This record gives sequence, structure tokens and C-alpha cells, in this order.
Amino acid sequence: MDWFNSEYYHILYRNRDNKEAETFINNIIKKLDLKTGLKVLDLACGKGRHSIYLEKLGFIVTGIDKSINNIIKARENENENLNFLNNEMIDDLGGKYDAIFNLFTSFGYIDEDYNLKTINNINNHLKDDGYVIIDYLNSILAEHNLIEKEKKLINNINFKIKRTSDNNFIRKTITFKDKKKYKFNEKVMKLSLDDFKSYFEKYNLEIVNCFGNYQLDAFDLKNSERLIMIIKKSQPKKTGIRGRQ
Ligand SMILES: C[S@@+](CC[C@H](N)C(=O)[O-])C[C@H]1O[C@@H](n2cnc3c(N)ncnc32)[C@H](O)[C@@H]1O
Repeated sequence: MDWFNSEYYHILYRNRDNKEAETFINNIIKKLDLKTGLKVLDLACGKGRHSIYLEKLGFIVTGIDKSINNIIKARENENENLNFLNNEMIDDLGGKYDAIFNLFTSFGYIDEDYNLKTINNINNHLKDDGYVIIDYLNSILAEHNLIEKEKKLINNINFKIKRTSDNNFIRKTITFKDKKKYKFNEKVMKLSLDDFKSYFEKYNLEIVNCFGNYQLDAFDLKNSERLIMIIKKSQPKKTGIRGRQ
């Protein structure tokens, strides 16, 4: 079974913080001056903690996730301005948006080809003056602070978590015994700010701002916990050709 869709994924990560999600959304909305009533997409929305709050603030929200179990849970909150789709990031994203969010390291799970297809797809579903907000881990700090072995006892399940890092990925192996023995793998690419810049350039997108935490302090390569990028479609450069005098 796919880890994201497994009941154990939700048990292990049951404490994902709604308060933190709300603080972050408040800060971003204020910083970008996003007006209520705009159409926004929460891409890889999980159970919808950001989507639900965005709708409460007055946005028209679509959440998309490939895990059907996440979508079933998220749909308990659906209303006329909040809907959820069970889709992959590279599939139809259901219209054009004023802002597309991809939050809490919901990118870089597979390979470069998939990353580029995702960004192309995001670009195709973004209005001309829209914003993309990508919240990724700061792979430099994550690697530096890597906890190699950890145990967590949740709901009487003893989760053993092993973390490693290689050239391209930070990897987690999660093993435990419930009705039987289980082993799941999670991996995320060690993408840097420069990697993202080069991805975006290919699609005429540019990073217009970059923050290092949910309080939106400036990004610092060595110390920031997060790599939060604000991206827009590149504006055509002025040619500088002057008329004849
Ligand atoms: C780290 S969780 C974050 C969820 C949510 N953004 C949050 O902050 O609570 C990553 C999510 O990405 C989803 N996901 C992974 N690969 C995906 C893909 N290719 N297309 C759509 N969703 C995907 C998973 O199902 C999972 O819900």
C-alpha cells in the first residue's frame, strides 16, 4: 500500500499542527495582500488543514491530493466554496487560480522529470498575475540536523524511524508491528534554492520573494528551517530599443 494512503501515515503524523498552518496562512495573505474572493488551489492538500482555513477566510478553495483517504477526510468539510479532488499534481488541476499553494514539503518525491511536469502544470493553471507559494524544507539544515534513529509510541504502535541522506534524497524508513510487520519508505529530494530557480526559469516563472520560516523572516541558507518561495510569471523585459530621433 502507498504510504500516503495508509492509515498508519495518519497515525504517525496525527499531530500536524493546525495552529501553525493558520499562522502561516495569515502571514502569507497579509504579505501578498491576497483579497478574499480569489480562487486558490492547495496542491497536495493532505486532509486540508490549509484549505479549510483559507475558505474560512473567504477564499474560493480547491484542494487536491493523490491520497483518497486524505480526500475522504477533507471532504467532510466541503461546501460551495471548498471542494476537494483526488488527483495527481501532474493531472488536471480544475481551472485557473489566483494563487497556488504547495505546502509543507509536498514536492520532490519522485524525480526531476516529475518536478518539471508539476511546475509546468502549475504554470498552466495559474492566472497571469497569480502567485505560486511553495513551502519546502531547507535541505541543508535538514541534512545537518538529521536524526538517524528515532522511536515513537503512538496508539500502542512502536514506530521505528531511520533517516539517511544520499546524493539526491533524504530518506526515511518507518518500521513497526501492528497486526503484522510493516515497512514503509518516504523520500524527498534535496532541492536547493538554485535548483528551484532553474526549474522555474524553464517556464518563465521567477521567485519574487523567499522566506525562511512561517513568521516570514528572510531565508538564510544555514539557519532557516523552511525554504518558502513566492513565485510569479516573469514580466516581459523592456527591450530598451529607442525610436529614431
Ligand atoms: C507532507 S504531506 C503535506 C500535506 C498538506 N499540505 C499539509 O500540510 O498538511 C504531503 C502530501 O502530498 C500528497 N502527495 C504526494 N504525492 C502527490 C502527488 N504526486 N500528487 C498529489 N498529491 C501528492 C500526499 O498524499 C500528502 O498528503
